[in-house]
Order: sequence, then C-alpha cells, then structure tokens
Amino acid sequence: MMMLETKEIKKSYGNRLNRTEVLKGIDLDIEKGEFVSIMGASGSGKTTLLNVLSSIDRVSSGHIFIEGEDITTMKDKRLADFRKNDLGFIFQQYNLLDTLTVKENILLPLSIRDMKKSEVERQFEIVATELGIFDLSDKYPNEISGGQQQRTSAARAFIHQPKIIFADEPTGALDSKSASSLLMKLKQINTNSHSTIMMVTHDATAASYSSRVVFLKDGIVYSTLRKGERSQEDFFKEIMNTQSVLGGVSVES
Ligand SMILES: Nc1ncnc2c1ncn2[C@@H]1O[C@H](COP(=O)(O)OP(=O)(O)OP(=O)(O)O)[C@@H](O)[C@H]1O
Ligand SMILES: [Mg+2]
Repeated sequence: MMMLETKEIKKSYGNRLNRTEVLKGIDLDIEKGEFVSIMGASGSGKTTLLNVLSSIDRVSSGHIFIEGEDITTMKDKRLADFRKNDLGFIFQQYNLLDTLTVKENILLPLSIRDMKKSEVERQFEIVATELGIFDLSDKYPNEISGGQQQRTSAARAFIHQPKIIFADEPTGALDSKSASSLLMKLKQINTNSHSTIMMVTHDATAASYSSRVVFLKDGIVYSTLRKGERSQEDFFKEIMNTQSVLGGVSVES
C-alpha cells in the first residue's frame, strides 16, 4: 500500500469573483520510506501543496490518502487527532518553546499519550542521540545554536514515530554547515527507521539528499527525478539541470 497517494488535488484561493488556482491537479504516489523533495519557483505552490498534504489546509477538490485513508473527508476533530498522532512537522523557523528545555520540547508530542516513563526515556535517547543533541538535553533554546535548535525541532518531529514527516524549507535559516548536518541526520533516520519524509526546498544541495525530487510549475507536476543508483553528486547535477530548464527558480526562500 502507498504511504501517500493524491488524486487530482486542486487548491484555489480567493472568492467567487476573483479566484486563483494554485494547484491545478496534482497526482502523487509516495511509498513508505521515501524521502521526497518538492522544488519549484517562488509562488509555484510548494508550501500550498505541503499544507494540504499535511492537513494544515483543506483542498478545493481531489483526494489525499495516507495509508489508504482519505484525509480530505475526515471531520475536523478526527483530523486534529490524526495530525497529532501520525504526522510530524519541521518548519523553517524552529518553533521551539523558549521556556522549555531541549528535552521538554522534544517530548511535547508525547505528553498527550499514556506511555511508560521508561519507554519515553528510551525513545528520547534514541532520537536525541541520532540527531546529535543528547548532551544538550537540559539547555534552553536560547543557549544553543540555530543548527542545534533545528535538530531539536527535527527530534520533536520524529519522537512519536509518525507515518510522515513534513518539512518546509527546514534548512532555510541555517548556514551551509548546519544545513548539511541536519540533512545528513534526516537522511540517516530515513534510512535507519524507514520513515517517510516530504521536504520543500529551493536548494539543489538540500534536495540531493532525498531519493526523489518533484518539480512544480504553474500548479502542476512538471517533472520528477529519482536518485536511483547514482551518486549524490550526479543527482545534484541532474537537479541543477532540471532547475535551469524549468527557469525562474528563486534563490531566496
Ligand atoms: N492564503 C492565501 N491566500 C491567497 N493566496 C495565497 C495564499 N497562500 C498562498 N497564496 C498564493 O498561492 C501561490 C503559491 O504560494 P505558495 O506559498 O504555495 O508558494 P511557494 O512555492 O511555497 O513559494 P516560496 O518559494 O516563495 O515559498 C502564490 O501566488 C501565493 O501568493
Ligand atoms: Mg513556500
């Protein structure tokens, strides 16, 4: 079964007299364990797509299935539960709570569930170690670097072992060293725990860490590249080529 499947999703903004169709019929099939990047020019609908896939926003028409379950027809309450239990999020701005420690921030998604304390500790140790922030557990967000904050936010996204992690420009606010450190960790978790990741990025280097790149243009899927057996460097070159053909790809976020 597909992890994520979309059928002809469309999204428009505006009112009856003045409507803009941002997504014009998107069909995607994402398998469990895939690490997918979404690229395209500024305004091409990347964030809009991620927001409807992750149920932050509703589609105008079409369907989105996550493990076969249609989230476009779910009632709000059920959808809120689904989002909390089955999805993980990493945003460009780290969205950490300043008054909580690194560890408390990471454990937030677990607080609503009844899990044994020893199990919580075990899960925390695994994820924090994987992301290289275990030693920072008792620090507050303003005591650690931007890269460490974003790895904390990634740990928080992974802690409850969601079905899919959604990331919108997760490296957008990071310097290149912190960015590659985060991407290496995401890739590692993706490989080791077979988690499914969908990441919006305008950066070809960031995209080269994923296993597939989906290019959006004018609200449709313009093309798809799969890494396959090639090296990350060759994949990077291919992504750059496609970007230059596509044109108008923004350099700012
Ligand atoms: N809430 C909204 N109301 C009206 N129009 C919107 C809304 N959100 C986005 N849009 C429009 O939809 C289009 C796509 O926006 P979106 O944010 O998805 O682009 P993007 O590909 O993420 O761009 P960027 O690379 O700049 O982040 C843009 O023209 C934008 O102005
Ligand atoms: Mg965007």
